[in-house]
Amino acid sequence: MTIDEDGLRRAAAAAASQAYAPYSRFYVGAAVLLATGEVVAGCNVENASYRLTCCAEQTAIARAVAEFGPGIRIVAVAVANLDPTIACAPCGACRQTIAEFADWDCPVFFPSGTMEGSRCTLAELLPSRFDASVLPGPLEGAA
Ligand code: THU
Repeated sequence: MTIDEDGLRRAAAAAASQAYAPYSRFYVGAAVLLATGEVVAGCNVENASYRLTCCAEQTAIARAVAEFGPGIRIVAVAVANLDPTIACAPCGACRQTIAEFADWDCPVFFPSGTMEGSRCTLAELLPSRFDASVLPGPLEGAA
């Protein structure tokens, strides 16, 4: 599949304009491209109880699962900040969230603070993911 990097970055930037970030005033958008071709975007949603804040990447991914089901695969991710001069790499928690649905070579596009922008792979952002393959699986008899 060809990946429209500029289009995905634009979708993320559009989502940033919807961010609810009255506390940090740091307005983030994210867009994920699914293996099926759909693009799903999200923004950060803060809370007066600060730790309940949802990052843009997590909002986009939760929305993608809600719309397209648990089998989604993410083939590219873009992150944007409403202010294009601010660098904005995905936080550690978001890297792990992306890893749940993406392969190592998944490209991630994010603002570098210059007009150029940064791009790298998920493997470069998260060299050692926590992997569900080490989990014991559900208890016998559990739902
Ligand atoms: N934020 C994101 O949405 N994504 C990230 O990867 C980093 C941080 C948000 C969370 C919070 O609303 C604001 O940026 C400042 O941390």
